[in-house]
Formats: sequence, C-alpha cells, structure tokens
Amino acid sequence: MKKLTSDELRQLYLDFFKAKGHTVIPSASVIPENDPTVLFTTAGMHPLVPYLMGAKHPEGNMLTDVQKCVRTGDIDEVGDNSHCTFFEMLGNWSLGAYFKEEAIAYSWEFLTDEKYLGIDKDKLYFTVFAGDEDAPRDMDAFNAWVKAGVDPSHIFFLPKKNNWWGPAGITGPCGTDSEMFYDTGKPACSDHCDPSCDCGKYLEIWNDVFMSYNKVADGVYEPLAQKNVDTGMGLERTVATINGLESVYDTDVFVPILAKISELSGKEYKESAETIKAFRIIADHIRCATFILGDPRGVTPSNVDQGYILRRLIRRAIRYAMQIGIPENSLSQVAQAVIDKYGHFYTELVDNKEKILTELANEELRFQRTLKNGIKEFEHIKGSFTDGIIDGKSAFRLYDTFGFPIEFTQEMAKENGLAVDVDGFNKAFEEHQKKSQLGAEQRFKGGLADQTEETAQLHTATHLLQAALRKVLDESVSQKGSNITAERLRFDFSYPRKVTKEELEEVEKLVNEAIEADVPVTCEEMTVDEAKAQGAIGLFENKYGSRVKVYTMGEYSKEICGGPHANRTGELGKFKIKKEEASSSGVRRIKAVLIKE
Ligand code: ALA
Repeated sequence: MKKLTSDELRQLYLDFFKAKGHTVIPSASVIPENDPTVLFTTAGMHPLVPYLMGAKHPEGNMLTDVQKCVRTGDIDEVGDNSHCTFFEMLGNWSLGAYFKEEAIAYSWEFLTDEKYLGIDKDKLYFTVFAGDEDAPRDMDAFNAWVKAGVDPSHIFFLPKKNNWWGPAGITGPCGTDSEMFYDTGKPACSDHCDPSCDCGKYLEIWNDVFMSYNKVADGVYEPLAQKNVDTGMGLERTVATINGLESVYDTDVFVPILAKISELSGKEYKESAETIKAFRIIADHIRCATFILGDPRGVTPSNVDQGYILRRLIRRAIRYAMQIGIPENSLSQVAQAVIDKYGHFYTELVDNKEKILTELANEELRFQRTLKNGIKEFEHIKGSFTDGIIDGKSAFRLYDTFGFPIEFTQEMAKENGLAVDVDGFNKAFEEHQKKSQLGAEQRFKGGLADQTEETAQLHTATHLLQAALRKVLDESVSQKGSNITAERLRFDFSYPRKVTKEELEEVEKLVNEAIEADVPVTCEEMTVDEAKAQGAIGLFENKYGSRVKVYTMGEYSKEICGGPHANRTGELGKFKIKKEEASSSGVRRIKAVLIKE
C-alpha cells in the first residue's frame, strides 16, 4: 500500500481519471449557487446537479475534481477521530457516459494497482444495494465487482439506509450505491460485524453512486433519462487509512495547523483528552471558517444562514482556544497556517487572505468582549435551575446579551448536567423580534414606563437601595425585578430569607446617608467589559447594547442602567421602606417611598 500525502493523493486521483478520459474541473464554491435547500456544498455532485439531470456540461460528459465540502450536521461530533466540518471530496463523474461496470473497474484499479494506491485485495470489502420497492437488488454492481476480481464473500448486500445516496438537498438526483471499505485488521466486534458496523474494523474510503433516479417533491423516485455515475472519496480519511493513522487529525493536512495551536497555547496536542479535543475543534473549525471566508462567494459572520454557521464555528473555536490558554485574538494565526497549507492549490485563500484574517480578527474581538461575561454569567446562574433545565428566557438572555448561540448554551449546559428549554428559547426569540420592531426609543427607556421627576428620583433611590442591601445583607444580592410608579418603588432581589427589622433599618439608614451627602449622579457610556472592570453592578439584560450607560452616585453606587435619574441624591427627600415580603422562592420584595419634607 502506498503512503501518500494529501497533496500526492489529490494529484494522483485527478491524474488517474484524466488518463481515463475525464476532464479535470476546478472545485466549485462552498456556497451553492442555485439550491436554496442547503446552506453549503456537501458533496462533489452538488454543483453538478443540473448536469446529472441532463443539461450539457461545457467540459464534456466525463469529469473529475476535488470539491471543497462543508457539512455541519455533526458539528458536535468534531473532536473525535474522524469528524470534520470541512473536507475535500475527490470524485469522478459520468454524465450519461459510462455506468456501473466501468465505474467499478476504475475504482478497483485505482484502489489495488501498485501504480496507484496498491491496497492489498484481501483488505478490501464492498457493499451493494439489497433491493426494495423503489429499486431492484443491485446484481449489476455485484457482478461488476466479481468480474473485477473481488471474492464474493467480500461483498455485502445492504438496505437503503446504507446503500442509497442522495439527493443532496430535498429533491434531485440520487440512486443506489456501492461503498468500498478497508479492513483495519481489528477483531470483529461481534458475529454480526460487517462493513455497515461502525466499531472501527471497517473504514469507508470511497462511494460509487449510480444516479439514475430523481427524487421529486412528493417523495417519489422517478427514473432519470440519463444514467450517471457520481463518486466520492474523502481525501483526509483516505490519507489516514493508507498511512495507517488512527485519525484524520494525524494526517499531514493537520500537522502544521496543530503545530501552530501548540505554539500559541504552549501545550502539546496529545497532552490530555482535553487538549486533543480542543486542538481538533480549533483546527477543524478555523480550517472550515477560512475556506468559507476565503471562498469567492465568501460570506462574513452574521446571524443568518451561512453567516450564522460561520459565526458559530468561529465562536466555538474561540471558546476552546480560551480553554487551552491561547492568547486572545490569535486565531487569525491559525487561519494563516491553513492558508499556508492549502494556498498553493486553493489560490482563492491567498487572494482573499486579507479578508479572511481581518474578518476572523473582528469576529474574535466582537466575541471576546461578550464571551467572558457570558461564561461568568453562566457559572453564576447555573446553580439556580433547580429542575435541571435552563429556561428559555435565560437561554435567550445568554444569546442576546452575551452572544451565546443556542447550541453553545446547550453544550455548556450538557457539560454541567443541565438541559435547555429550546422551545422556550425560540419563543423568547420571537417575542424579542416583535418587541424590537417597536423601535429603539421604547427599548432604551431603561424599563421606566414614564419619565417624570418622581419616577426618576425613585429610580435613583432604587440604585441606592440595591447598594445598601448588598452592604447590609450580602454582596451576592442581585436585582430580580423593578417596578416604579410615581408613588413608590418596588424592588425584587435574590435573598434566601426574610430580612429582619434591624437589617431593614440599617438599609434605610445607609440610603438616607447617601441622600444627605447630596452627591451628583453622573452618567458615562462604556462597554460592558469596562463597566464590569470598574465594579459596576447591573442586570445585563437584552435591553442593553454592547455599549452601556453607567450611573455613579459618589462612593455609594455604580450601576449599569438606561436611566433617567435625579441630578443629585439630595433631591430625593427621605427614604422609607414600607414593606418587605417574599416575592417567589429565593426572591424578596421591598416597597419603599420617598417622603418630601
Ligand atoms: N455523492 C456521494 C457521496 O457524497 C459520492 O458520498
């Protein structure tokens, strides 16, 4: 068996099919052109759909290429030995030219001939379609393998679940397939172990699809006028297999990328299970993000469609980068390693280098700003979900205020043995969208329904009250709700028990001292990070943008808030607590008034 690098395998494959009369075509964009049913190109056949359906391809009816593919369905599996969100797929196509027998003969020659992969015939296993109501048992494929030289005991008939491929989206060309497997030599996991088993004994390296059906919208498979061949060989996976490597992450593709991560983090890739997972996720996600950003039809991070997936990849990579101690804002160096590795073949990465590095750095800055606070917030709130479920509102707050994609919250929840109410999150999301249509003005009133002098003063008193409660009771007291009318303030806060009369008197005394000191109420705009660094308290709710207003009342209070407030504490009069009671479990409620002399 030949030991080849990724560059060598790519070239060998294209040269082989070129010699067999195929035209080498360039990889298409990772963003599909005319298919609204999928976000990314997921297979080599995807950009060729019109030609598989019968349109004439300008380069002829026998083609070969290596296609950039993005599959994010298994994003959570990335970190194991085999999953990647980006990969290269080698493929050859017959657009109504040759069919099963020739396709299988080509595959056999490339896999076994010493000039190509030279894999030992005994190590190869094959599967073909067993037949059902949509298509007959694929005896043609079986016979073609036997004719090529395969021992029939190495061929398995399997159902549609295993041996039918496509369509790539919801409708389109598809058909029976025949898959090729390499036997690693590991012992069979059971008497039933066959190539469909994922115990690791058999590794799939290539798939020949015989595309002679079109799946239409009502789910029916209609025969295509043209009988096509579509094949796909995962480049990274095949390089790993022929080099006897356990993981795609051990191939030459990832070596320089992982080395860069090691250099940045000061850690070894295989130091621990934790570093292995983090290194792989960062390498995979940044490689994928680099190809998406560098694509000629490249997108930038956003909250919709491809931009959202891109954002999710980058943000997930950042989170793992933080975990292994990679300094902030250095992921563009990982992207540079990707460009260095691939730029000679995918020249668009070199052409779009500035864009890739700048967009990545910008997104990193944007996310760093909110992520740190978000993780802190998560740690802070995670103990409060007594039923083990993070409610939709809290999940939405993490999304809206801290930029946590819902999948991200789910992942952190899982690590902490919690679940997330995703339906509740979606509901909160929709409600928020409705609300945001009401306009910025409404939202930036800072929770005050009206803005009279009285309410402004009561609002200022609320800040002083919270500061006093934190002094008298506990630093962990935090606001759970606030409601102000022209007559009184009502303040809900976290505290596990009734507040004693003495404590209430002490709180009243502190507030009145602050009023008597008659300090100015000042307001400054800054980022949430800056506010926190200055020790400001506050509810980091969705009504705040990334820049916030911080109100300071001398030494007495510093709090993030939308305002409005009195100009000086001295305007407030005398502060008097009228009532203290339970509001809900773990939450107390205080009603108070300002008495004017
Ligand atoms: N389209 C086939 C696949 O992706 C070859 O496996």
